[in-house]
Amino acid sequence: MGRPFPYSNFKLVDGHNRLIHKLRISLLDSCNMNCLYCMPAEKEFMAKKSWVSAEELCEISSKLVVYGIDEIRLTGGEPLLRPDFRAIVKRLDQLPLSKFGLTTNGIHLERELDFLKDTSLRYLNISLDSLNKENFEKITQTNTFSRVYHSIVKAHSMGFKVKVNAVLLRGMNDTEDELSKFVEFTQKTGIEVRFLELMRIGVANNYFEKYFISAGEVIDRLKLKNRLEEKEMPKDSTSFNFYLPKGGEIGFIASESRPFCGHCSRLRLGADGALRPCLFMDHGVSLRGLKGEDFLKTLKQTIKLKPHDRIKAVNQAMHQIGG
Ligand code: 5AD
Ligand code: SF4
Repeated sequence: MGRPFPYSNFKLVDGHNRLIHKLRISLLDSCNMNCLYCMPAEKEFMAKKSWVSAEELCEISSKLVVYGIDEIRLTGGEPLLRPDFRAIVKRLDQLPLSKFGLTTNGIHLERELDFLKDTSLRYLNISLDSLNKENFEKITQTNTFSRVYHSIVKAHSMGFKVKVNAVLLRGMNDTEDELSKFVEFTQKTGIEVRFLELMRIGVANNYFEKYFISAGEVIDRLKLKNRLEEKEMPKDSTSFNFYLPKGGEIGFIASESRPFCGHCSRLRLGADGALRPCLFMDHGVSLRGLKGEDFLKTLKQTIKLKPHDRIKAVNQAMHQIGG
């Protein structure tokens, strides 16, 4: 950035005195995986013409940066399915961000790595629900294990800050063998593995009782075989992490059993330009076409709606909201 950025004195502080400085942008709601806990059998995706254009997306984002957003993460659905993905990244790359990241299922990641290497987008969260090929393919309903695994290892070797996300499902990918494979993986590669508790979002509401396993139970099981050393985390971190003595790191995103809403610092922008105060709130307020005072007024109204405590469940699917 050659010229100074026109920051505003007004900062995004919500009704519970939380400083909002992170933005998740969902680039589209469609996806090329069909994860059991996310994608419904009857899929309904937004019409492409409803997507906010690269230009408008970046206009909205730069206005939010004026008010203190300094971290942006691109999500979906699967963000790499946006044909103008590179154009979006190039534009956002111009903003003064302290952290720029991407959450992806990894299917198309490899082809983007050389492009991304020359941008400031450094933080990659990649879903990998199992290190057992058959199980991974059962959960995601694709045959993409090798591609995804390879892209993770390659991204890490190229210097990206990679985290692997695994949603643990009781009876599916929570066996001793699965957990040991994740432990070995993080020890061997140094890539952080984060176990996500299943959240009551969309179709997962139908399977919640069957598949939910708490972080506490997983930690107890891991402790039978491993020494876990607690790591100090930032206050608004969604995960709590442990180092393993032989290297590597395991985190837990325990949204159900240990909600982190009290320290939440995030806003979400939908693929249609709607700003949402919370992952668990079904609707958002559109920022499209808003200028000056109208933009600020809508922004203030939206952050006022940010809840302090975890809302129990939401009907919309994760692919629609953006992870
Ligand atoms: N509960 C927990 N995690 C979920 N994800 C998608 N749906 C759910 C759910 N119901 C995960 C994806 C991805 C991240 C963005 O969110 O697997 O890793
Ligand atoms: Fe796609 Fe992510 Fe949903 Fe899986 S969890 S279907 S990768 S949006």
